[in-house]
Amino acid sequence: MTSLPINPPPRLLMGPGPINADPRVLRAMSAQLVGQYDPAMTAYMNETMELYRGVFRTTNDATLVVDGTSRAGIEAVFVSLIEPGDVVLVPIFGRFGHLLHEIASRCGADVRVIEREWGTVFTPAEIEAALVEHKPKLLAVVHGDTSTTVAQPFDELGALAEKHGALLYSDTTASLGGNTFETDLWGLDAVTTGLQKCLAGPSGSSPTTLSEKAVAVINARKSIEAGIRVAGDAVNAAPIRSNYFDLSQVLDYWGPKRLNHHTEATTMLYGARECARLLVDEGIENAVERHRLHGTAMVTGLTAMGLELFGDQSVRMNNVVGVKIPEGIDGDKLRATMLGDFGIEIGTSFGPMAGKVWRIGTMGYNARRDAVLTTLAALEVALRRGGVTVTAGSGAGAALDFYA
Ligand SMILES: Cc1ncc(COP(=O)(O)O)c(C=O)c1O
Repeated sequence: MTSLPINPPPRLLMGPGPINADPRVLRAMSAQLVGQYDPAMTAYMNETMELYRGVFRTTNDATLVVDGTSRAGIEAVFVSLIEPGDVVLVPIFGRFGHLLHEIASRCGADVRVIEREWGTVFTPAEIEAALVEHKPKLLAVVHGDTSTTVAQPFDELGALAEKHGALLYSDTTASLGGNTFETDLWGLDAVTTGLQKCLAGPSGSSPTTLSEKAVAVINARKSIEAGIRVAGDAVNAAPIRSNYFDLSQVLDYWGPKRLNHHTEATTMLYGARECARLLVDEGIENAVERHRLHGTAMVTGLTAMGLELFGDQSVRMNNVVGVKIPEGIDGDKLRATMLGDFGIEIGTSFGPMAGKVWRIGTMGYNARRDAVLTTLAALEVALRRGGVTVTAGSGAGAALDFYA
């Protein structure tokens, strides 16, 4: 059998992520490899750490990239911080809260949850009450839960976690770069993200940052693997339960020791570095503002077409909006029309929102005026062909008025 070269169809990815990668990220990823300890490579690693301190808004020395998709970062932080039996509190307000629960459980944690209806978020008082009741070692909260399109406010959570003796972790896969997030100012101990949303890259790398407090917990569990261990290196009878995600060793690979742990995924590192470089170059506040502008233009166009939005709009993420599927419309059929006729992908939903809500993103490289207007124009035609009464030009027209 002869195989043809990869030649994907042209698509405009306007769902909840992944989105089209910025061409500059793709170009960085086509650069030639260098050796693992080549001074050029270790310099790229150090530069990547510094760039992500800018993206996370932190001075944390322990800021690095975990190889693997976003859940690799979550898993690395959890397996490295949590010892079997530790109490972990997870407030769940969407699918990705359930994922934190799932991963923490597999690390042997005694997981306690509080739950809210999808599309809403917790008040600080609700979270404090749960901290008082459960006294967790770790409070783990998703920032923007892509499944529901809303973001949990975090500005008070760091102080609450500290008051009640818990470490604070957040999954910012869907939100970082497009929504304000202040790792140091808000008192976070561990934060992970991914490239495939507001960072404008492909999935496959999970930027991660750890406070000194988190690093101390992780390093207390350190055990250097046989074969690279030298006299004086730590050996622990109950080591971190994953070798690949053992952040005590991974940190020594990224640090001055350059411990020979894994072989850094060079091409992903080039991409991750370029994602951060572009954001830092733009300015994080400017990037957040760009997401706010184009997200609001999308919302303006959707509501002008008479569509109803899903979830508490006061806490909606800038970069993704939930749209209730109009009565009588087959949501998947319309998505197939959008993809087949216009080459535009919009998202479906999970759990209690399945079949009821589309999710439309404006993020990363696609947080752009032309992408918003093209999507609104195509959606209007697809809705009308599906039998919904929509005034011609109403969606894109309203967005154009908004931009004007
Ligand atoms: C909030 C959130 N967390 C975690 C993930 C899992 O990311 P990945 O598929 O890159 O492992 C996603 C993916 O969409 C997400 O949106």
